[in-house]
Amino acid sequence: MKNNYSFYSILTAIPVALLVLVGFTGGQTGNFSGSPGDNNQNCTACHAPGANHGGSAALSGVPATYNANQAYNLNLAITGSSVSKFGFNITAEDDSGNKIGTWTTGTGSQLRSGGSGLTHTAAGSSQNNWSFNWTAPASDVGAVTFYYAALQANGASGNSGDQVITGSSNAVLTTIDSKLSDFTLYPTQVMDKVSIALENASAAQIQVYNMQGNLVLESKIQDQNELDVTHLSSGIYITRVMVEDAVSVAKFVKY
Ligand code: HEC
Repeated sequence: MKNNYSFYSILTAIPVALLVLVGFTGGQTGNFSGSPGDNNQNCTACHAPGANHGGSAALSGVPATYNANQAYNLNLAITGSSVSKFGFNITAEDDSGNKIGTWTTGTGSQLRSGGSGLTHTAAGSSQNNWSFNWTAPASDVGAVTFYYAALQANGASGNSGDQVITGSSNAVLTTIDSKLSDFTLYPTQVMDKVSIALENASAAQIQVYNMQGNLVLESKIQDQNELDVTHLSSGIYITRVMVEDAVSVAKFVKY
């Protein structure tokens, strides 16, 4: 009796395991980048965390600012890992977790469910880096952040012994221009105060971001205003001037 029992369990277990394998080795259905818009879900929803295969993941090619409809070539790489099976999931979102832009696949990648990001293909799980394009939206949607989850799998046809790494990019601001929010900012090399003169509006909201994408200064201005930037550390800053829904961007260097 004991033997029969094991025999039948194996008979049913094999097709189930095969179905699961066929369904999943080429990227998972569903969205698991770890982003707020993916409900912070990442690969650990199925691949048990805990293993350490030593690799680290890096996303390169992310621009500091995005232009309307421009395509950017990005690369997600896993380096230094002791295993040879990999996978990933990537998406781009605004501050409210809305999906932004469109994706174009490269070697070893495919659109993930709903097209709001990319994941690896079955063949792409033998690569440890993937190149692909992200195309910026046509209008300003505020800061955009890229979120990714990458897997280093031990190839043991089970969901344990794998390692998940998640990460995100700096918040990327737009250079998309709009008449309403045109302004002059001077000087562009500054020690204490920058002046901002609005051209087509009488009031605006100002936000200053550092190159890490952090908001460092926020203020409301009328026609012409001075912003005190004495307290900022030296470096490059991006000023966003917002009038109603229109946004313009200018850089200055604090020294
Ligand atoms: C809904 C469950 C589920 C989620 C979520 C999930 N996977 Fe998987 N994945 C599986 C299953 C099941 C397999 C097949 C068993 C195996 O090979 O480990 C698999 C296999 C893989 C493989 C092939 C491994 C090998 O050994 O051939 C890769 C690579 C992979 N997943 C990457 C990912 C990545 C990257 C994520 C997150 C972005 C992810 N998976 C999220 C269920 C999932």
